[in-house]
Amino acid sequence: MSVLNKTYNNSQFYSEKYRPQFHFTPKKNWMNDPNGMVYYEGEYHLFYQYHPGGLQWGPMHWGHAVSKDMLTWEHLPIALEPDDLGTIFSGSVVVDWNDTSGFFNGKEGLVAIFTHCKEEVQSQSIAFSKDKGRTWVKYHGNPVIPNIGIKDFRDPKVFWHHETNKWIMVLAAGQKVMLYGSTNLIDWTYLSEFGNDEGAHGGVWECPDLFQLSVDGDSSNNKWVLQVDLGDGAIAGGSGGQYFIGEFDGVTFQNENSPNEINWLDYGKDFYAAQSFSDIPEKDGRRIWMAWMSNWKYANELPTSPWRSTMSIPREVELRKMENGLIKLFQKPIAELKSLRLDQYVIRNQYVNGDANVLAGQKENTFEIVVEIENLTADEFGFKVRQSSNKEETAIGYNVLNNVLFVDRENAGEHEFSNQFKGRHSFQMNNSQETFKLHLFVDKSSVEVFFNDGEAVITDLVFPEDQSKEMEFYVVNGEVKIVSLELYTLKSTWE
Ligand code: FRU
Repeated sequence: MSVLNKTYNNSQFYSEKYRPQFHFTPKKNWMNDPNGMVYYEGEYHLFYQYHPGGLQWGPMHWGHAVSKDMLTWEHLPIALEPDDLGTIFSGSVVVDWNDTSGFFNGKEGLVAIFTHCKEEVQSQSIAFSKDKGRTWVKYHGNPVIPNIGIKDFRDPKVFWHHETNKWIMVLAAGQKVMLYGSTNLIDWTYLSEFGNDEGAHGGVWECPDLFQLSVDGDSSNNKWVLQVDLGDGAIAGGSGGQYFIGEFDGVTFQNENSPNEINWLDYGKDFYAAQSFSDIPEKDGRRIWMAWMSNWKYANELPTSPWRSTMSIPREVELRKMENGLIKLFQKPIAELKSLRLDQYVIRNQYVNGDANVLAGQKENTFEIVVEIENLTADEFGFKVRQSSNKEETAIGYNVLNNVLFVDRENAGEHEFSNQFKGRHSFQMNNSQETFKLHLFVDKSSVEVFFNDGEAVITDLVFPEDQSKEMEFYVVNGEVKIVSLELYTLKSTWE
């Protein structure tokens, strides 16, 4: 029986095998990229690439959900459906505060800027909403940017650029991005392009984002971050994201690092198409994004039903200056996640040498661990989570000898759906570490590992049995000191 024909009542959703408990998933059917992320009138909006007709990628719509805290989501009806101009690919939403578009009779409203795709020809279109995103009217003059002879020409992300008083669109075009400007969201002028010879080019570029951040929170030192995904050839294999840091003057983006330098967003295999919220109030000041937790290498085969695909937890992004003077992007879990914490288990100042498992007896399949460890003499240490009597486990560790942080999902659980799935994903550090901070989020079918306050992140899906709830802290050849370890059970956001 197909997913569509089967009738579900609400109480059956969100308790299925592998169903994430504190990550966003659609009730049923296929989802990919987050789209149209915007904060407006107390609501965070998440639109997403959605195929309401099945569990595989198909004619794209924009699904829609809203939240007050980015954690508990209310599903809303589909926002944008295919029409004569094509299906609805990725894009963004902005608040048109000053009615620059003229759609809102002098008031304000939401404007969606998205890609129309018809017979593989892609163009950019807009739609507007006067009722907080509940209903949308497509602009009669669509497309606002017709195709210009480039096959992959999509995923507009738009923001207001105060300094030059205009809207800026960053658009993926083949293996570069193109920038356009507009005063009314309708008439767009080509400004510049970036990326032909910069960064990683293992696949077509997709889903860019461009925003300004202060360095180390110092508002007199701002830099621009250009986030771009690539469809193949990312660090862990398949699709993944990279970023550039530099200057943007309203026309051109200038990378301040060497064009050959590649900065990966995530060292796992399942963090794609990250998009940041538009219009988060200045007094909040955070830049927060979410990404699609999957990989085009196997996205269509994942063993979940009646839904397929999950969003990452929302992450706050920051720029920090490293000891070597380089500026790097850090990602950290949003503070709101603390509201999900239930039971707590704490260890402080304990020496561990591998003989005893200090987490013996702890059993969870949706949890968070915050830990600081001092390495004394060990060759390797870390966690084994989602474990069951040595049948399956996901290892998250630090190999001291090779200076490598890793997630190993070789024996994590179900993997037969794709030969691209199993494996170990790692982050190679430049310097050896004496103290070591990790922040882990483990859900029914994922692990997200934030290393040293978000200097590196590894995001990986895993498909263990529901009962695989055991966990272990292991130490190989030597001793470490657990300075502090906090383990929290996390409550479901779907109950
Ligand atoms: C990225 C992507 C986008 C496109 C969308 C189509 O995952 O390929 O470039 O707009 O998915 O669903």
